[in-house]
Amino acid sequence: MPFPHLTTGRPALILAPMEGVTDAPMRAVQSERGAFTFCVSEFLRVSGTPLPAKVFLRSIPELRSQCRTPSGTPVQIQLLGGDPERIAASAMTAVQLGAQAIDLNFGCPAPTVNRHDGGATLLKYPQRIRTIVQTVRNAVPSSIPVSTKMRLGWDGIDLLFENTAAAAEGGTSWITIHGRTRNAGYAPPIDWEPIGEVRKRLYPLPVVANGDIWTIDDFKRCRDITQADHFMLGRGALANPRLPLLVAKELGLAPKAPEFETPTLLAHEWLEILARFEVHTVHYPQQSLFLARRTKQWLAMAHRYQDLAWFEHIKRLPTFESIREAITSLQ
Ligand SMILES: Cc1cc2nc3c(=O)[nH]c(=O)nc-3n(C[C@H](O)[C@H](O)[C@H](O)COP(=O)(O)O)c2cc1C
Repeated sequence: MPFPHLTTGRPALILAPMEGVTDAPMRAVQSERGAFTFCVSEFLRVSGTPLPAKVFLRSIPELRSQCRTPSGTPVQIQLLGGDPERIAASAMTAVQLGAQAIDLNFGCPAPTVNRHDGGATLLKYPQRIRTIVQTVRNAVPSSIPVSTKMRLGWDGIDLLFENTAAAAEGGTSWITIHGRTRNAGYAPPIDWEPIGEVRKRLYPLPVVANGDIWTIDDFKRCRDITQADHFMLGRGALANPRLPLLVAKELGLAPKAPEFETPTLLAHEWLEILARFEVHTVHYPQQSLFLARRTKQWLAMAHRYQDLAWFEHIKRLPTFESIREAITSLQ
């Protein structure tokens, strides 16, 4: 099965890459209900030398199974760096290992990454964005999409149209835009309007709208403002695991989205989802500790969204088993 190429007019819903969050087990759980068209891997940083195969295989175990999650959702591989040739060589290694699509990160705001010439730093240099995209595009087979993901700009949006035009000239297959500048971090407000403007200017190049879609109403507002066909969900998908299905239904991608009786997840639904997370980490060394840490991280995101009264208690518990027992006792 080929990777789903985005085309304008046919919607896609994409699970956002989130370093330290959307690793293989999380991608497996999130993709299980069939709402996502594909997932994007956490970024792999290309610095002094091209990445060796073992780095890809460690971070993206899906490469061993046609680069798909256990339920069959494709995974795109994201690379980050400032050196075109080394990124292109890394992309080729990924393709030889079975990657079916490459994404280039021009949005990461982390100071260490930016100091080392990666992520959002590139937003100051449209010409470099063009060269990186073009070099990777020319290196990998034409059947493999090469896309870009960026923010609105570094400290303002003055270079947005130049940056996105540069990516388009370099041959990007589509552009995902998180509606914030690098300096805005994750602070509100989100600014979806410029995403719509880019979409208009670069039409028919597919543009994926991203940022702060926490509810189905947020999604509808984002769609109205951007007129985008494609959307990427990150924190909202974790905070409210029902959201991807609801959005997929709106997009016509999941006709069978169930009717939910309550606006937010009930304790037993969290238990079911966490049980799936457990299944996908069964081979992990120190599985219980890993699951405890990641479950607390996950529920912390949900707590910000829906005020889980029980989170304060859960966050002090040391093991996954004790967390599960505590949630079970809520029922
Ligand atoms: C913890 C965390 C890690 C992230 N890691 C990445 C990453 O590896 N690559 C990337 O392109 N974006 C990364 N992002 C940005 C997200 O992909 C997304 O653009 C951003 O969170 C806005 O979308 P949201 O409001 O739906 O979460 C990360 C965001 C968070 C919160």
